[in-house]
Amino acid sequence: MPRKTLAMDFGTSNSAAAILVGDTPMRIAVDDGYDTLPTAVFFPSDGTDMQIGRAASKALIDGHEGRYMRALKNVLGTSLFNESKLVGGKRQTLSDIVTAFIAMVKHRAEITTGETFTHVLSGRPVHFHTSDPTRDARAQSDLRACYLAAGFEQVTFMFEPEAAALASYQHGQIGKIGLIVDIGGGTSDFSLFQRQDQGFEILASHGIRLGGTDFDHAVSMKHVMPLLGHGGTLRREFGDGLLPVPKAIYNDLATWAKIPFLYSHKTRLATAQMAQLAVDQKAFARLQTLLDFELGHELAFAVERGKIAANSETDTAPVQPATIPMGFVEPGLAPALTKASLDLTLQGFRNHLGTAAKETLRLAGVPENAVSNVILVGGSSLMQMVAAEMRLICPLANQSYSDAFTAVIDGLARATAPLPAKSSPPGPL
Ligand SMILES: Nc1ncnc2c1ncn2[C@@H]1O[C@H](COP(=O)(O)OP(=O)(O)OP(=O)(O)O)[C@@H](O)[C@H]1O
Ligand SMILES: [Mg+2]
Repeated sequence: MPRKTLAMDFGTSNSAAAILVGDTPMRIAVDDGYDTLPTAVFFPSDGTDMQIGRAASKALIDGHEGRYMRALKNVLGTSLFNESKLVGGKRQTLSDIVTAFIAMVKHRAEITTGETFTHVLSGRPVHFHTSDPTRDARAQSDLRACYLAAGFEQVTFMFEPEAAALASYQHGQIGKIGLIVDIGGGTSDFSLFQRQDQGFEILASHGIRLGGTDFDHAVSMKHVMPLLGHGGTLRREFGDGLLPVPKAIYNDLATWAKIPFLYSHKTRLATAQMAQLAVDQKAFARLQTLLDFELGHELAFAVERGKIAANSETDTAPVQPATIPMGFVEPGLAPALTKASLDLTLQGFRNHLGTAAKETLRLAGVPENAVSNVILVGGSSLMQMVAAEMRLICPLANQSYSDAFTAVIDGLARATAPLPAKSSPPGPL
């Protein structure tokens, strides 16, 4: 690996950059002293420069006029990624925006370290898109194109859970066979690895396109969107009978990456027409407020916070029942979200996670009882259902948490070093 290699974890929700100093990963404080940053951008309406990370989130929270975007990694490999849109007063593609985000992180890393980085070692999920190899390959080439356009000359990829395995191995966090379970914002990734006399060997890696943004979507569709008219009915313009309210707008409003595209004249007009025919007038008035004042991201953040609060409820330490505060839409509106209803909403996803973990073991030909350690990584691994499901699958394994938000970047930084010849390390792709 060339000397001037920047390790970069471009995550759905959070990103980070690091280098290796000696044999120690050094995370680079690329966001006002923090060593991770929200993968978020904000284009102020006044035409001033794009902001990223916490500054972007703050601009949104402070109510500045402009366009906020998050979870753009979800769109890699789709046609939307290269469609030109009017954002921040000029026509640009999401590819241009991801490029600008990466270029800013690169620039900050160079200012902080005094280095110029020509090569990037980037994490990638095992599958950006489950069961669609063409789209998956396109997602990686979309991301590669962004790194190149951001000024890197060479781009190498490594599976994110294999990077986390490397970090865990270095921490001495495993016995004989370890299973990394990396549940992030957009994907869930698994690597099974075996300790050897020197180093370790990756036995299998697997992943699915499922993460915290999908959990948010499900919670929103079930607990919030009905308050905005989802699942309701419309009177027919001519004649008797009722029609179901179309679902598309609610689906987009509950999807982080799609929210910015809802604030169009077309959507507002369609909503106004539906509002006239709606049986539940109050719900449609809320939806119109949300669109008129462009509050979709405020809602997404409220749902995410509600999810995290409900998840923190335990049998031994019951907390105040969680709510999703929606006072910005209507004073006092705050639907409840209990741990029980959260679990029920996410039960199907929990099953998918279990199946994917078992598939990783099957690919390696390793029985479930042979796993000595399960290591939980990624923000969504903090969901109680993840630990519970993995305990069912690997009941004899010792379960531990790695650094939820930094294990991948630490492992990527380590992988920029030449590895001992005898080890069988995870190889960059
Ligand atoms: N305490 C918590 N409990 C449950 N979920 C959490 C918690 N904190 C953060 N999350 C969720 O973790 C997700 C972000 O995790 P992370 O930063 O690891 O993802 P990412 O690396 O950006 O995504 P990916 O690797 O999938 O591209 C979000 O969906 C967020 O809601
Ligand atoms: Mg991640």
